[in-house]
Amino acid sequence: MNNTVISLPSSSPLNKADFIFGVATASFQIEGAVDKRLPCIWDTFCAEAGRIRDGSDGSMACDHVRLWKQDVEMIYSLGVDAYRFSVSWTRVMHADGSPNQQGLDFYLQLLERLNSLGIKAFVTLYHWDLPQYLQDQGGWLNRETAYKFRDYADLVARSFGDRVYSWATLNEPYCSAYLGHELGIHAPGLKSRAQSKQAAHHLLLAHGLAMQVLRTHCPTAQSGIVLNFSPCYAKTDRAEDVQAANLADQYFNQWYLLPVLTGRYPELLDRLPVNDRPPIEEGDMQIIAQPLDYLGINYYTREVYEAHDQHWFANLQEKQGPLTDMGWEIYPQGLTDLLVTYHQQYDLPPIYITENGAAMPDKLVDGKVTDKDRVEYLNSHIHAVHEAARMGVDIRGYFAWSLMDNFEWAEGYLKRFGLVYVDYPTQKRIIKASGLAYRDFLARRQQQS
Ligand code: NOJ
Repeated sequence: MNNTVISLPSSSPLNKADFIFGVATASFQIEGAVDKRLPCIWDTFCAEAGRIRDGSDGSMACDHVRLWKQDVEMIYSLGVDAYRFSVSWTRVMHADGSPNQQGLDFYLQLLERLNSLGIKAFVTLYHWDLPQYLQDQGGWLNRETAYKFRDYADLVARSFGDRVYSWATLNEPYCSAYLGHELGIHAPGLKSRAQSKQAAHHLLLAHGLAMQVLRTHCPTAQSGIVLNFSPCYAKTDRAEDVQAANLADQYFNQWYLLPVLTGRYPELLDRLPVNDRPPIEEGDMQIIAQPLDYLGINYYTREVYEAHDQHWFANLQEKQGPLTDMGWEIYPQGLTDLLVTYHQQYDLPPIYITENGAAMPDKLVDGKVTDKDRVEYLNSHIHAVHEAARMGVDIRGYFAWSLMDNFEWAEGYLKRFGLVYVDYPTQKRIIKASGLAYRDFLARRQQQS
C-alpha cells in the first residue's frame, strides 16, 4: 500500500454519498476551562500522585473552550461530514440538578456553528467525566447515579433538541467499569471485580434510561451507544486456547454488547462467584435493551489469549507485528473480523465506527509532522471497514480518533493521537500529513459523487 495517501476503490460502499466520515474528540481531553465547571472524577484522579504518567491534568488541555471557533474552522477545512464530541456533565448542570446556562450556551453556540457549516453533530453524553459530587455518593457503584444520569440526559436533550444529528449515551462503559473499578488505572481508581461488575451494570442501566429520554425529546435523531471492542484471538487452535479466547470475549466485549442487544449477560455470568455478580433488579434488563438506532464501535487493536491453569484466560503480553506508540498491535484485519463475526452472530443495528486511530511518535520538524505511519494506519483500517461493508455489514460512518492531540488519560500528554498536532505551550494547531491525507481523501470522494 502507498503510505502517503488514503484511497478506496471507486466501487467501495464507503463512497456512497451518505456514508459519513468524521473526526472525534471528548470534553475532558480537549476543553480546559475547569474554572467554569464543577470538578469531575478525572480532576480528582489527576491530582493524586502517580496516577498520570507525566503528572499532568485537564486544566488546560487544548484550551478548546477558548479556541473553539478556530477549531471548528479547522474541522471544516478537513472537509468532514461530521464531528463527534462529548458534553461535560459538570459544565452544564449544577450539583442541585439545575441547568448551568453558561455551560449550555457554550455547546449551543458550537452546535449552531456546526449546523451552519453543514457538519453533522454526533454528541456523546458521557465520556468518563462523572461529577465528583456523585462520586462522593458512591459514583457508579450507587444505583442512584443511573437516575441522575437520566436527569442530565433530559436536560441536555431538551436544550440541544434537533441541533444534534446523533446521540451516544455512553462512550466505552468497559473503560469506566473495568479500567476504573477493576484495574484501577482510570478514575476513580478502584480495584475490585465485584465493584467493576456493579459499576458496569449501573452504567448499562443509565444507558437504557437515557435512551428512553432521548426517544422522547429527540425522536428524529439517531440514538445509540458507543462500545469498544478488541477482538479476542486464540494463540493456537487447541480447544483450551479457543475456549480462553471465547471467555475473554465474553468478559471484555460481550459483557456490554449482549445486554444492550438482547437484554441478557453472557453465560460467563454463571461462572462468576456470587458476590461478584451484578446487582440486577427486576426490569433492569428490559430497560438496558432499548432498541438502538445504531451501535457505535471503537476499534484500536486485537488481543491474543491462551489457556491458563488458574484463570479463565491469559492475555499474551509480547505483542507481534508493528506497534503504535501505545504499544498496541496494528492489526486492521481484526476490524473486519470483528464486524463480520458480530454481524453473523447478532441482528446488529446499523454500525458507525465512532473511533479508530493511533498514537505515533510524531516529530514536529520545520513546522511539519510527516506521520506516514498514521496515514498507513488510517488507510489500512478504512480498507478493513470497506471489506466488512463489502461482506454485507451495514456500516454508515467512520470517525478518526482524534481531531487533534489531547489529554490521553493515564498517559497525560505523552501520547499523540491527533490528525492535527497541538503545540501545548503556544496552543498552536498544525495539521499533520495524516490530516492532509484525510482531507485529500475526502475531497476526492466528494468529486466522485
Ligand atoms: C478510546 C477513548 O474513547 C478515547 O477517549 C481515547 O483517547 C482513545 N480510546 C485512545 O486511547
